[in-house]
Amino acid sequence: MKDKIKAISELVEQKLSEANDAASLENIRINYLGKKGELTSLLRELGKLSPEERPAMGQLVNEVKQRLEAELDQRKASIAKLELENKLKNEKIDVTLPAKEKKLGHIHPMNIVLREIEDIFKEMGFTIADGPEVELDYYNFEALNVPKDHPARDTQDTFYISDNVVLRTQTSPMQIRVMENNKPPIKIIAPGTVYRSDAMDATHSPVFHQIEGLVVDKGVTFADLKGTLETFARKLYGTDTGFRYRPHHFPFTEPSAEMDITCFNCHGEGCRLCKGEGYIEILGAGMVHPKVLETCGIDPNEYSGFAFGLGLERVVMRRYNIDDLRLFTENDVRFLKQF
Ligand code: PHE
Repeated sequence: MKDKIKAISELVEQKLSEANDAASLENIRINYLGKKGELTSLLRELGKLSPEERPAMGQLVNEVKQRLEAELDQRKASIAKLELENKLKNEKIDVTLPAKEKKLGHIHPMNIVLREIEDIFKEMGFTIADGPEVELDYYNFEALNVPKDHPARDTQDTFYISDNVVLRTQTSPMQIRVMENNKPPIKIIAPGTVYRSDAMDATHSPVFHQIEGLVVDKGVTFADLKGTLETFARKLYGTDTGFRYRPHHFPFTEPSAEMDITCFNCHGEGCRLCKGEGYIEILGAGMVHPKVLETCGIDPNEYSGFAFGLGLERVVMRRYNIDDLRLFTENDVRFLKQF
């Protein structure tokens, strides 16, 4: 038995010195020192010995077991230390390396100009209103004095969700929504997305943006409309901007007009950009139709107002000399990063 103990002890010592990771140490512990290990089973064999031999042999097995366990613990500690050192070495981070550059996006040209326009109107005391793009036929047409069979519907063909629900063709339904829910004085602009069933080309898109404006109060006149829009256009396009109004028809304003500004390219001389006109159309406007005021529960004998609608794409294209509005939605970084 003594020989057996010695043999196991030597074998374990050799294996311990060879082991170089936690897993093989654990194997050694299980195979030799654990409950079913070889050394432990020797203790069970003590019964076969004579009573005289038993105590000394038992003591020897236990001594050897304790010694080997201590050695195993020691080895475990040094392997753990080694593993930690390796880990530290391999996972070292060089904090002096230059950081990865984070590419920041920036504001889309449409939003740059929209924010500028919003600021100009805010300065004049306007607040900003927001409303649904999926709109009831009632707000988009009916309440704006465009009944079901009205020819004006032809020019604003849109996408029908159902008989009574459309994608709004203009931001003008916001006039109705605001007047229904607010008592005059009213002074708002309502920027937003609008839809028309148009084919896409350089100057048309089925999805585009407008900015609606509405002012309602006692004694509002066409002079207020002109003053407001000219102040706005001069701030956006420069103080030397000239204006021209052409009579027009919108079912929800009376009288109605389209406003042109002097071409910022040729300053009125006539050039390729303005097709020789010297002027460029920027918006539709007019005095709110008495019928529309009445529909919204506002007495046209007491109150009057003006409204305007401006196409945002066109303004941005003029501002940056962009000749194709498809560029706005193609998300080509080479285009977008120029602004
Ligand atoms: N909604 C009209 C259009 O889209 C523009 C407009 C707005 C005209 C407000 C008059 C008053 O053409």
